[in-house]
Amino acid sequence: MEVIKTVDELRARLAREHDVCCVPTMGNIHDGHLSLVKIAAQTASVSLTTIFVNRLQFGQGEDFERYPRTFEEDCAKLEAVGNKIVFHPDEQQMYPEPQAFFIDPPKVAKKLEGRFRQGHFRGVCTVVLKLFNAVQPQSAVFGKKDYQQLAIIRHMVDQFALPICIIPAETVRAGDGLALSSRNRYLSEAERKEAPRLREAILQIRDAINEGDRKFVAMEYAAGALLSRHGWNVDYVVVRTQRGLKRPSPDDSDLVILGAATLGSTRLIDNLEVVAP
Ligand code: PAF
Repeated sequence: MEVIKTVDELRARLAREHDVCCVPTMGNIHDGHLSLVKIAAQTASVSLTTIFVNRLQFGQGEDFERYPRTFEEDCAKLEAVGNKIVFHPDEQQMYPEPQAFFIDPPKVAKKLEGRFRQGHFRGVCTVVLKLFNAVQPQSAVFGKKDYQQLAIIRHMVDQFALPICIIPAETVRAGDGLALSSRNRYLSEAERKEAPRLREAILQIRDAINEGDRKFVAMEYAAGALLSRHGWNVDYVVVRTQRGLKRPSPDDSDLVILGAATLGSTRLIDNLEVVAP
């Protein structure tokens, strides 16, 4: 597996490649990322994973400094699943001078995660566009675990007519249902036992929807109350449309249940798509 650290070297290496699938990550690779890399390896002749902890998408008081940097272990895991190239730029490569131009995402970026993490998607979109410019891939894989991020990136690619096919990938879960995330490592033993309840609250809503219930606000309230009773600090558990992440109207059937809540000091997110009968 090749490791490339500068944009110039990357451009030279990829000059003759016309089938590159990119997996943008911030490292601390787990099985969730590896499932994206496997998709990339099946999709294109060159699978390229980027590892860069992007300062721009962390708000004040978030975990930029303590975000786990585990480059050696990451490379071993990526190599084992057949990843071809790792692009691992440093801060100087990505931000040689303070970033002055930003992608200003539309209103949807102010909702849900955007309400609790101001400027987050502005930082994500800006770095993803920069990474896309550096790599110039034909395709890129993003996990559904970050559902709102996936939706915003797709919209950005569409609106800027970027010639990149965005491939969505299913969330990978531990045996007890907890979505894999780099943040799970911050959970204490007791919190780790409690953590699958976020998924259970979401499944409770899915079951109600599958039974024909459309009283979404009541379901959201009940799911949030369940989590609060078990010590969670709930940001949201809501039902939205898959397209546009809007409150569903009576005709909408392609829905997604999204949740975000904090256990101890660890904020977890999860979601589930559901097609209402
Ligand atoms: O999903 C992530 O890990 C990050 O938001 C991304 C897409 C790599 C941008 O820094």
